[in-house]
Amino acid sequence: MQVIDTITEWRQALLQCRTQCKSGGPIGLVPTMGALHAGHASLIDAAAKDGNEAVAVTIFVNPLQFGHNEDLSRYPRTLDDDLALAEAHGATHVFTPSQDEMYPRPALTTVTVRDLTVDWEGPTRPGHFDGVATVVAKLFNQAGPCRAYFGEKDYQQLCVIRRMAADLEFPVDVIGCPTVREPDGLALSSRNRFLDAEQRTRAATIYKALQAGAAAFERGDDPVPCMTPDAELIYAAAVDPDTLQPYTSQSTIRLLIAARLGPTRLIDNLEVTR
Ligand code: PAF
Repeated sequence: MQVIDTITEWRQALLQCRTQCKSGGPIGLVPTMGALHAGHASLIDAAAKDGNEAVAVTIFVNPLQFGHNEDLSRYPRTLDDDLALAEAHGATHVFTPSQDEMYPRPALTTVTVRDLTVDWEGPTRPGHFDGVATVVAKLFNQAGPCRAYFGEKDYQQLCVIRRMAADLEFPVDVIGCPTVREPDGLALSSRNRFLDAEQRTRAATIYKALQAGAAAFERGDDPVPCMTPDAELIYAAAVDPDTLQPYTSQSTIRLLIAARLGPTRLIDNLEVTR
């Protein structure tokens, strides 16, 4: 596994891989901010299983997607463990650029995906999706044609990235991968490590709230009033899976939820069809 920290070498390594590979097959790109857990491992596994010639993981804690009230320095950094996990799951290349490498000058150019970013995570995290769309656009540009793997756990982010890639004609196939859960249903997240034992127990009720909403939708009721976790609810919504607007008569919808346990804010979502 090659570990690379400059954009020039990263481009060269992936180009070399693309041109020298016998099948000329695609690159599987797995963008992350590190603190890798089994959810990320499932993305790397998916990229490896899809027969990509290179499984290219990026690890970059992107300052542009942190709001003024969000502590960038508190974000867990576990590079040695991350590299070990990436290699164990079949990564062939890992990109670990510094902030200066990714942002050598203040970014005057940023990417905004309108409409999809207005609701849900948007209002509580101003600028967050611009930061995500901008860094992912840069990562796509650096990697070139590829398949890129993202978790459905951050469903709004996945929709934003899909739309950005389509609108800007990136030669990238954006692939959403299923959320990985703990046995009690809690979605894996790098934020789970901030929960104390009592909060961790209550955090499982976030998924239970989604399941209650799904059951209500399946029997023809409004799902939202049933989505009541044992945590401070920030929002619960039932939306069209593409537009993220409240659903009207669709038969397949996405339930979205965000809740706070102490200082830790968790999100989750579930697809449901009736
Ligand atoms: O989901 C994440 O880890 C990040 O938002 C991403 C997509 C890697 C962009 O920094």
